[in-house]
Amino acid sequence: MTILKAEHISYSYRTKYQTIEAVRDVSCKFDAGKMYAVTGESGSGKSTLLSMLAGLDLPQSGRIYVQGKDLAAMDRDRYRREQASVVYQAFHLFPLLTALENVMFPLELKKVKKKAAAEQAKELIRQVGLSEKTFRQFPQMMSGGEQQRVAIARALACGGNLLLADEPTGNLDTENEQHIVKLLCQQSRERNYAVIVITHNPEVARQADIILKMRDGRLVDAC
Ligand SMILES: Nc1ncnc2c1ncn2[C@@H]1O[C@H](COP(=O)(O)OP(=O)(O)OP(=O)(O)O)[C@@H](O)[C@H]1O
Ligand SMILES: [Mg+2]
Repeated sequence: MTILKAEHISYSYRTKYQTIEAVRDVSCKFDAGKMYAVTGESGSGKSTLLSMLAGLDLPQSGRIYVQGKDLAAMDRDRYRREQASVVYQAFHLFPLLTALENVMFPLELKKVKKKAAAEQAKELIRQVGLSEKTFRQFPQMMSGGEQQRVAIARALACGGNLLLADEPTGNLDTENEQHIVKLLCQQSRERNYAVIVITHNPEVARQADIILKMRDGRLVDAC
């Protein structure tokens, strides 16, 4: 089943002095149960593409369909709350919440009772390879890699059927990176998610079902 489909989308950044065509006429589709890696050189448009797929920016031309519905006509905050979880390049954890509270947050938004939310959040934190001592830690007390993993646990807590991640293993050592990539692969199959991961790392890309390569705003190998 296709969850997300982009048709001829483009996005340019216009500054006073120049226009940068960050994404040019990209078409692609993402199916449930599959993991996709988006690769390409720095500046090739990966993050811009992801922010459109996440509904954070609208394409300036072309359309994005979420299970057949035009994303431009949808409530995009709701789309991110209920369907598409995003792990950002800078993790955006809530600084005043502990790791556990950060992961509980999307569950509480979904009206899961506090006790059940705490149990599920603890399980997710364990799944990303963190110990119980992290539960009570605030983001600033954690290493970059630990924060990264909390951000992934929080994204998994969102539910939905789409997970979009910008360099989710960028701050991790090789062992933890393998662990997270395996977890994402496994989640895509078990929960029937479409997982879209931006990565510079060929090892990570290799584990994906499909690799999309961007160059100069275009998709080199279109799917
Ligand atoms: N806010 C912005 N204003 C102007 N130009 C921007 C902005 N954000 C990105 N760009 C430009 O758009 C192009 C694509 O950027 P994007 O961040 O999508 O690349 P990327 O592939 O994610 O790079 P990286 O691997 O370094 O994260 C680059 O040329 C970049 O300089
Ligand atoms: Mg980027």
